[in-house]
Amino acid sequence: MLVTGKDILVPARKGKYAVGAFNTNNMEITQAIIHTAERLRSPVIVQMSEGAIKYGGQDLANIVIDIATRATVPVALHLDHGSSYESALKAIKMGFTSVMIDASHHPFDENVHETGRVVEAAHAMGISVEAELGRLGGIEEHIVVDEKDAFLTDPEEAVKFVELTDVDYLAIAIGTSHGAYKGKGRPFIDQARIKKIGELLSIPLVAHGSSGVPAEIVQRLRDSGGEIGDAAGIADEDLTEAAGYGIAKVNVDTDLRLASTVGIREVLKANPKEFDPRKVFGPARDLMSKIVEHKMKVLGSVGKA
Ligand code: G3H
Ligand code: 13P
Ligand code: NA
Ligand code: ZN
Repeated sequence: MLVTGKDILVPARKGKYAVGAFNTNNMEITQAIIHTAERLRSPVIVQMSEGAIKYGGQDLANIVIDIATRATVPVALHLDHGSSYESALKAIKMGFTSVMIDASHHPFDENVHETGRVVEAAHAMGISVEAELGRLGGIEEHIVVDEKDAFLTDPEEAVKFVELTDVDYLAIAIGTSHGAYKGKGRPFIDQARIKKIGELLSIPLVAHGSSGVPAEIVQRLRDSGGEIGDAAGIADEDLTEAAGYGIAKVNVDTDLRLASTVGIREVLKANPKEFDPRKVFGPARDLMSKIVEHKMKVLGSVGKA
């Protein structure tokens, strides 16, 4: 069933597990996400960025909404990184049940103002809202505290932000970053900071940039002719630990991008004569389903629906 983000995330926060929020850009990705959720009895969030809306528009939103409505587990359709009030309102008109307003690059007061405006409008329509405080970006473990504080989310500021905006869930900067290059080896995650913020705030917390960039998938990408540099993602154990401290929504895009590309590459490399789109995209869909399944197990959402 199609539900709001809050319907999914409040129970997750209370139950100390997290729910995957997977980015979609087409039918196969959407099926991998929602059908896996159904198979594992897990709630799930499907999210579209503004880029995804530009690419797939109402057609793609309707595919998500239709599969979600027929699913027997809770599914929310979320706007990822909405850049303006107008963008958030447009998504709500399109049928999204959750929106993010990302004004984190603005000074605190402006972030509060922009977020507050979206919260007021969205709440009037029963839609829940995510905002972000702090700057995403990889950090080194040895970096001095002052430098970390410059862009990671300040716990006291987070409390003030939530009080002033009434936002439903908050994305915090804890050392994760977007994309396939999150740092060397096992990228550092500031668990102590998550724990602190989780003690001060009872709303669900959100981790962006949470792909695992599995070594096996990276190797298969290379073996099938792809090129990728020194890729690294967030370790499974780090996500499980963060879920225990209050992270309830975990954003994953890169892992599904990698899996879809590996699936397509492997088919085409092994079968140069193949041109049936179902044979090309099918294995990619299967591989994405495996990624979604693994994430749901790591986050503890299996069997919660
Ligand atoms: O955080 C960004 C997501 O990975 C979406 O990326 O804007 O290229 O669709 P996109
Ligand atoms: P990844 O690039 O780690 O998949 O993060 C995606 C994300 O945060 C989308 O908002
Ligand atoms: Na988001
Ligand atoms: Zn993000």
